[in-house]
Amino acid sequence: MKNIVIAIDGYSSCGKSTTAKAVAAELGYAYIDTGAMYRGVTLYLLEHNIDFEDLPRVEEALHQLHITFKRNRRTGRNELCLDGVIREDDIRQMRISNSVSEVSVIPAVRHAMVRQQQRMGRKRGVVMDGRDIGTTVFPDAEVKVFMTADVHTRAVRRQMELAVKGENVPLDDIIHNLQKRDHIDSTRAESPLRRAADAVLLDTSHITIDEQVDFVLERVSSVL
Ligand code: C5P
Repeated sequence: MKNIVIAIDGYSSCGKSTTAKAVAAELGYAYIDTGAMYRGVTLYLLEHNIDFEDLPRVEEALHQLHITFKRNRRTGRNELCLDGVIREDDIRQMRISNSVSEVSVIPAVRHAMVRQQQRMGRKRGVVMDGRDIGTTVFPDAEVKVFMTADVHTRAVRRQMELAVKGENVPLDDIIHNLQKRDHIDSTRAESPLRRAADAVLLDTSHITIDEQVDFVLERVSSVL
């Protein structure tokens, strides 16, 4: 069986990572959550009190910080590490969600992350989710899926994810955050969030996770 790249892009909280993770497990592929990487950079800048507009300091930080993933044997989850320390819970907090899109517009940040993502996927056999995988990171991905869902459904899912981790956030705050991020992500100059011409659209508003996974696996079967 040949190894391919599966690119799953789309709006925030559509179920991209849940789907991507399950598809990767099914195929024995690596899963790379590129949003976690932008969240990791954001966490680093906030913790080092680096102003997002101070480009020389942001560039210096990009040279210093090390983003890696470590597999948690208990959960099977790939967890984001910043400078070797697992920071998975920290990067999911609302304070990071509230700033990450501002960090993700910075061209130097995008260049550094895209380079690393291309290195991580160079042997193919990966499922990568994000905003620009099918357009910029792997424009030659064999399977490209673009996910969307209505904002209320997305916000309810996100609220439940945060609640499980002990963070109770009002629904309106989450809706506002999703809409703000979608707007910044779609309108930025550098590799904006958009559907690649050859990506298939998947609206997850009214389907189950299993149906999402089957949809992607069917696309995979059609190219293998
Ligand atoms: O996927 P997740 O919601 O964790 O992504 C967080 C943020 O990271 C997005 O809102 C977007 O600003 C940024 N991002 C990006 N390009 C990617 C993945 C994520 O700009 N490939």
